[in-house]
Amino acid sequence: MSTTSQCTPQVELAARFGAARRRTLNLCETLTPEDMMVQSCPEASPAKWHLAHTAWFFESFVLQDFLPGCGLFNPDFPWLFNSYYLSFASFPEKRLRASFSRPGLDEILRYRQYVDDAVERLLARDAPPEALRRIELGVNHEEQHQELLLTDILHAFFTNPLRPAYRPGSQDSGASGFTTGSGAPGLASETWEGTTPRSDSGTSGTGLNLPLRFQGYLGGMFEAGHDGQGFCYDNELPRHRVWLEPFALADRLVTCGEFADFIADGGYRRHELWLSAGWDAVQSNGWHAPLYWTEADRGWTVFALRGDQPLGRLTDVPVSHMSFFEADAYARWAGYRLATEFEWEAAARTQPAAGNLLDSGRLMPAPAQAPASAGSAVGRAQFFGDCWEWTASAYLGYPGFKALPGSLGEYNGKFMSGQMVLRGGSCITPAAHIRPSYRNFFPPETRWQFSGIRLAKL
Ligand SMILES: [Fe+2]
Repeated sequence: MSTTSQCTPQVELAARFGAARRRTLNLCETLTPEDMMVQSCPEASPAKWHLAHTAWFFESFVLQDFLPGCGLFNPDFPWLFNSYYLSFASFPEKRLRASFSRPGLDEILRYRQYVDDAVERLLARDAPPEALRRIELGVNHEEQHQELLLTDILHAFFTNPLRPAYRPGSQDSGASGFTTGSGAPGLASETWEGTTPRSDSGTSGTGLNLPLRFQGYLGGMFEAGHDGQGFCYDNELPRHRVWLEPFALADRLVTCGEFADFIADGGYRRHELWLSAGWDAVQSNGWHAPLYWTEADRGWTVFALRGDQPLGRLTDVPVSHMSFFEADAYARWAGYRLATEFEWEAAARTQPAAGNLLDSGRLMPAPAQAPASAGSAVGRAQFFGDCWEWTASAYLGYPGFKALPGSLGEYNGKFMSGQMVLRGGSCITPAAHIRPSYRNFFPPETRWQFSGIRLAKL
């Protein structure tokens, strides 16, 4: 669960609750009931399950504890739609979620309405602080599942022979949502000119093809973790000091064009570029490109929520849907490395927490924009949105980490083994959901999320 150091006023929370719940339904507007049953890879869940599970969260952790007399909508739902909370109830195997043809979609939608009505009744009263904290957690949980719903649908449609588009259009569809950075006070020390890893990736068909440059940071003592303003998850605490040596980060994400050069240079066939477990993953999975890249008669295409896109039009678009192992191998091939999560956080705190997020409507990563002013290496540096950025940091508890008591303590803490931290959000992360201290985490072989690469050095 979360820790909320400063409770959001009840009225604002009610508005945010309503907006989050409506958005989940809006994201399903173009889906058929059949679409919503597909579970196409072990990581994914059907959209219908996401609809039910997010209602389950409010019913189980808010209504049952804080709304006396509120009965269960269905006595089977507490275990049926439990995901992984062992101390709360049993639950079906995850792979069986595609078999939940019953309850039907109509019943799931009635369940959501039942829960919405009850939470709104609770919010109309003088609700206790703990109830408000859990509702706020539930809203953030809902937002996480909005992103998962879209990544799961993307994978589902990729496995459909017809390759339907979730929302037809090109990467230029939707509002841009671009913001411009305001410089890098504090940690910035100097700027190094660099080059793209390969210079023969061609010119962009979609926008500026910005040279890769590095922004330097002095390092020193850095306070990592949530700063106490607004909501955060328990894994962003406690705030603590971290010593950083001088470092430099690329001023944009690695593009599809640059990653194509890695492939053309035999990147997936050269074991010396890979960590041992990464090379094993390449061999056992037959990886030869990022997840949604397909080589066809007319050249490479990249499948996206807006349907198949010619790779030739994406040369300056951030590459995504790759594992930590691929990101690490690319960085080694390019002569750089991945940032630690603390280097990333120190640099990201110098930028506005805004970018190409779900609210932009683009639904795809977007090309980097020119720096805000001549001589500035920062500009819109893509720290927030576009792609989650794999870091070189294992997902561990911060010094003094304490999971919250009770079943909600299982939200984050029990996954602190065998996973890597990703930072910054993606083009389908709700804007209200992301912040500099946010820590996402996945096993290193994970590829179905919008996960990309930022290079680091020194
Ligand atoms: Fe969940």
